[in-house]
Amino acid sequence: MSHSVVIYLATNNAHKVGEIMLSLELLGVECIRFESAAAIGGMPEVDETGTTLLENARIKAKALASKAPDVWVCADDTGLFVDALGGAPGVHTARYAGVNADSRSNNDKLLAALASVPVNMRTARFVCCLCLISPEGREYVFEGVFNGCIASNCAGGAGFGYDPVFIPEGHDCSVAELDESVKNRISHRALAVKKLVESLCDPNAA
Ligand code: IMP
Repeated sequence: MSHSVVIYLATNNAHKVGEIMLSLELLGVECIRFESAAAIGGMPEVDETGTTLLENARIKAKALASKAPDVWVCADDTGLFVDALGGAPGVHTARYAGVNADSRSNNDKLLAALASVPVNMRTARFVCCLCLISPEGREYVFEGVFNGCIASNCAGGAGFGYDPVFIPEGHDCSVAELDESVKNRISHRALAVKKLVESLCDPNAA
């Protein structure tokens, strides 16, 4: 693809928009530009009723695509999979602590659930699924995995969601204690964005 494409992000989460844009900037990419859904009237409300990250990402991408059929749209759905909890919260990550959950209540519930689990058994991963839909309705899927473990306490003020309790593999602090330029090179979302870029900017692809 030789010309620059604009991709509208199917989310109302300003953190995600900022992180995806920063990951793209850190990759030095010029063939793609991301824009918030706000630029085409905002992201419609959707029920994330899927049983997988891909199903939920597809629901969000299609909802925005149906509002703006002639543009590229991309949705992100992320889950945190904790080994000692049999992969929970997984697809229920956003509402782990209930329908009115927020980051604080989700992190508190996770730390309580792991209270008796020793450090070496607290392995976990974030998985990000990106669903990209072209103006012609072609679907592309990209996945990024971020391995780490769950801390014993919350630490740090950067990022969002479960960042204060997630210690990335090879680091000794939480994601919320990392510089945002570090998170947005190594995170699940950054790795999925890198795959999207490699696919779309490859002159032999798309
Ligand atoms: P969703 O992809 O918007 O459904 O997000 C699922 C849940 O994962 C929400 O509770 C988010 O706060 C959390 N989440 C998504 N991405 C991240 C991240 O990069 N760091 C920490 N938590 C995240």
